[in-house]
Amino acid sequence: MSYEVKSRKLKQWVQEVAALCQPDAIYWCDGSKAEYDRLMRQMVAVGSATQLKRRPNCFLFRSDPSDVARVEDRTYISTPNKDDAGPTNNWIAPDELKRIMLDLYRGCMRGRTMYVIPFSMGVLGSPMARIGVEITDSPYVVCNMHIMTRVGVKVVEALGEDGDFVPCLHSVGAPLAPGQKDATWPCAPMEKKYISHFPEENLIWSFGSGYGGNALLGKKCFALRIASVMARREGWMAEHMLILRLISPQGRQYHIAAAFPSACGKTNLAMIQPTVPGWRAECLGDDIAWMKIGPDGRLYAINPEAGFFGVAPGTSYDSNPMAMETFKENAIFTNCVLTDDGDVWWEGMGVPAPAHGIDWRGRDWTPESKEPGAHPNARFTAPAAQCPVISPDWEKPEGVPIDIFIFGGRRATVVPLVIESFDWDHGVFLGATASSETTAANIGAVGALRRDPFAMQPFCGYNMADYFQHWLDMGDRLGRRAPRIFYVNWFRKSPEGGWLWPGYGENSRVLVWMCERVEGRAGAQETPVGYLPNAGDLDLTGLDLPPENIRELLRVDREAWRAEIPDIQRHFARFDSRLPARLRDQLIALQKRLEAGES
Ligand code: GTP
Ligand code: SPV
Ligand code: MN
Repeated sequence: MSYEVKSRKLKQWVQEVAALCQPDAIYWCDGSKAEYDRLMRQMVAVGSATQLKRRPNCFLFRSDPSDVARVEDRTYISTPNKDDAGPTNNWIAPDELKRIMLDLYRGCMRGRTMYVIPFSMGVLGSPMARIGVEITDSPYVVCNMHIMTRVGVKVVEALGEDGDFVPCLHSVGAPLAPGQKDATWPCAPMEKKYISHFPEENLIWSFGSGYGGNALLGKKCFALRIASVMARREGWMAEHMLILRLISPQGRQYHIAAAFPSACGKTNLAMIQPTVPGWRAECLGDDIAWMKIGPDGRLYAINPEAGFFGVAPGTSYDSNPMAMETFKENAIFTNCVLTDDGDVWWEGMGVPAPAHGIDWRGRDWTPESKEPGAHPNARFTAPAAQCPVISPDWEKPEGVPIDIFIFGGRRATVVPLVIESFDWDHGVFLGATASSETTAANIGAVGALRRDPFAMQPFCGYNMADYFQHWLDMGDRLGRRAPRIFYVNWFRKSPEGGWLWPGYGENSRVLVWMCERVEGRAGAQETPVGYLPNAGDLDLTGLDLPPENIRELLRVDREAWRAEIPDIQRHFARFDSRLPARLRDQLIALQKRLEAGES
């Protein structure tokens, strides 16, 4: 150990885990660049990483084909009482789950080094920051955690003798026999993967996967699933939201927090380059927001992360130039194409495909190949500080005051471009009934329509009905200082399958309308589903879009909305009597508004 650890709880836990997992060595991470460089060199030497000739200090990894995304089917919220996990979470009783997993953990790190990673979610010294310690046998995880969180000796100092931390235990679940050659991406088969949360104990146990949210335990496991439970207990919020600052030509700042499901546009919106003249944007976070009511009664948000773990395919200088600039150096790429000249490539990168490359499975690839070269959930890991439009205030300990909440999802039909809620309860109803087509961010069917309330379906660490109530309670506490709530859908398609809305930077036109609504300046029409802009209320100057697209994007199809009602009823019925009455009332009111008037 190269530094002193005073925390008895930490020392004891590390000893217990070592006795259980039986690693060959224990290594305490100090978070230094030298440590990062050393681990990368080791991974290059054994062939699990490739250094990119064309990007300074960048590395490419290829995962096992069975280990390419989060595994919602293998993710558990383990509360003593099943009802406390609720109908949207997988559940196994804590005793039973621990018995299963202890069997798996026994000797699981043989032949490997066990890394201890002290990390902080949120900048140290922020009243909202929380400390975690991840134990892992994956050096890839260590390097990613260096970028995604604040790792280091200062965290151990902050912990002191009796500071609290969330223990996060991770193993790839692939012990090595003496002399056995390691896989380039070790992991365990699907039926041995468990991503487990014990909210009562603020404890995380992950086994068998090395990928993303399954393995970088500060992110979804801690900052959303465990933190959502802490937040409810303590009266704050942990949300799957980007944080963005929009600045008007007059210099007025608006802070926006937006929740879209996985791979539905958060990173893109977080780094938006507005196309409306005079408006500017700064990025504060792209995936997670922790929010707390401040002394002035407003809701303040921090980004607990320090980096971006973003979807690579589709990222180009057209769609997200700021992301392209962010990962020019010091980045990790996973499951992208390796070009022959030593760079990465992916579908939708906006540059011609290489004549030849190595695909994400390590096979020769050419543009004639039948399968995509990059996996649809290929990702980049890059430091937030490298984003050219990162806000100067992104590490402000107290966070930024939120003016606007946005919910949304990916819907080819029915849901219009934007809806403003009538009031807080209606906004919570919009969040609670959010629906989206599933994406490659999870292993499972892609394109299946499902309800994904508040984009938290895979990330809420307790009964979702109680989570809805928590939103209502927060609104009651915030009163007239509560953010305005909107709902967007950038993903409407024509019957021919083309996008009706150009998206990306042009989404600023919708954001500007929201800001003008907050100021009471922009117009809107009242519809059964909420306030919608009239075509004339959106600034569409210079946008070459057929008027029929706009008409379709801003149309409320009563018939189609009525057809949504039975699905919302089924969705709500899952929560039984635990569903807040105020949401049931919202559904009845929506039905009434849809029945009233002509269709
Ligand atoms: P996670 O990191 O999984 O939480 O995803 P995310 O919500 O940050 O999604 P991201 O911004 O990475 O976008 C995912 C995909 O949606 C990419 O393929 C984008 O190109 C696409 N996308 C993002 N914004 C838009 C948009 O405004 N319009 C359209 N049509 N596609 C978009
Ligand atoms: C998501 O799936 O919402 C992500 C990627 O942000 S992961 O970190 O793998 O959860
Ligand atoms: Mn996400």
